[in-house]
Amino acid sequence: MMAERIPIASDHAGFEMKEKIKAKLTAMGYDVHDLGTTSAASTDYPDYAHPLAREIESGAAARGVLLCGTGLGMSYAANRHPNVRAAVAWLPEIAELARKHNDANVLVLPARFVSEADGEQILARFLDTKFEGGRHQPRVDKIEIGK
Ligand code: RB5
Repeated sequence: MMAERIPIASDHAGFEMKEKIKAKLTAMGYDVHDLGTTSAASTDYPDYAHPLAREIESGAAARGVLLCGTGLGMSYAANRHPNVRAAVAWLPEIAELARKHNDANVLVLPARFVSEADGEQILARFLDTKFEGGRHQPRVDKIEIGK
């Protein structure tokens, strides 16, 4: 079976944790695509959120991971794209519910507010949890404007 392609990106605030999460994903056997940033030098989060969101929007990847300081800027930018549901998760339980109820397809980690160990737990829960469908499906369908 081909390894699942997972794009990952951060700004400077998420850079250090991105490197750790990337190593973790690679060790888990995923086909990780690092879309930057490449250092801790100050940069603009939308420049990374949009390319990643385009991968989800186009179907090139089914799931992705973004990181910034609070998770908010990345989620705002990514969620402008059709069919992208980017969830900021600071606890494993939130990542789990974002998958089960909201069919989140992008995990956004608030790198300045979670430890590295917690970040890995949140990631694992996001990857391991399936969307429940059922009553949640019509709600998720209603997220897209004009449908
Ligand atoms: C960068 O300082 C910070 O503003 C950014 O990482 C993020 O938290 C924005 O939402």
